[in-house]
Amino acid sequence: MSILKQWYDAIQEARSVEKIEEIRISVFGKKGVLAAEFARMKEAPDEEKAKIAQELNIHKNALMNELAARKIVLQTLELQEKMRAEAIDVTMFGASSQAGALHPVMQTMDRIVEYFSSMNFAVKTGTMVEDDFNNFEALNLPKYHPARDMQDTFYFKDEMLLRTHTSPVQIRTMMSSKPPIRMIAPGAVFRRDYDITHTPMFHQVEGLLVDKEGKVSFANLKFILEDFLKYMFGDVQVRFRPSFFPFTEPSAEVDISCVFCHGEGCRVCSKTGWLEVLGCGIVDPNVFAAVKYENVSGYAFGLGVERFAMLIHQIGDLRSLFEGDIKLLEQFR
Ligand code: DAH
Repeated sequence: MSILKQWYDAIQEARSVEKIEEIRISVFGKKGVLAAEFARMKEAPDEEKAKIAQELNIHKNALMNELAARKIVLQTLELQEKMRAEAIDVTMFGASSQAGALHPVMQTMDRIVEYFSSMNFAVKTGTMVEDDFNNFEALNLPKYHPARDMQDTFYFKDEMLLRTHTSPVQIRTMMSSKPPIRMIAPGAVFRRDYDITHTPMFHQVEGLLVDKEGKVSFANLKFILEDFLKYMFGDVQVRFRPSFFPFTEPSAEVDISCVFCHGEGCRVCSKTGWLEVLGCGIVDPNVFAAVKYENVSGYAFGLGVERFAMLIHQIGDLRSLFEGDIKLLEQFR
């Protein structure tokens, strides 16, 4: 029986399920050793046949059990090995992710707020959905006033609208507190406009200072705005041009020397050497009357944050600030 005994060792030495299968075929297959042994038995003398058959059957059963047992062991080992190889190490560092950064418009807004906070202006907010009174009426813009056309408004029903500027925050602040007032109002505003310098949503910062009658002058306004514009744009020239706003009288628009050509005259400044950056003025008495303020004086100003961001970063198309293009935004980390 030595010929069968060697297979016990082969089974114990097998290192894979595949090898077990090979052994099974070699031993139990049609052309396997067992078939050959049973064939040989037929040539043995009759009196030995029963003994040989009995012995062969014992080995047959024993080998079958050995094979099955070894197969289970190897299957378990192979599964363990597979699990080890495919295991996920949750303690390992992942692919590094990039940290985000503030949008250039928000960076500019923060810088504006930083300046006025340092000058003791409080930061106030209103609501984006406003009523006609706060957005227009109280700002000396009665119904049918032609200056309402300066701002293409998104209207809801019942005299509600999306605020077209941050000036209504002046009204809200004065209605809810007593003078003196020293505030700015940063926030989103909405107009029906869309081209390379206009988007339907943009950001403004409004400023308002109110104190006793005779205490606030145009000179005060001029000083702070000049100082502010130099803080924002560096060494630029600043000029005030007479203008009109319903909520201020007198009113002015403020220009800085062109940041692209330094006053030489170029395409951006339409060859004038100047860029308009904000509107301002002395608060109109009608505005104080609307909020029932008496014996006060004040100044106000308003500016567009996107315009500041475009001039600071020399961006040509305002709309690119709203496209969320990572390649563009990454430059402003
Ligand atoms: N509200 C004006 C606008 O949206 C900006 C502005 C101009 C605000 C002059 C002011 C001001 O307070 O005095 O165009």
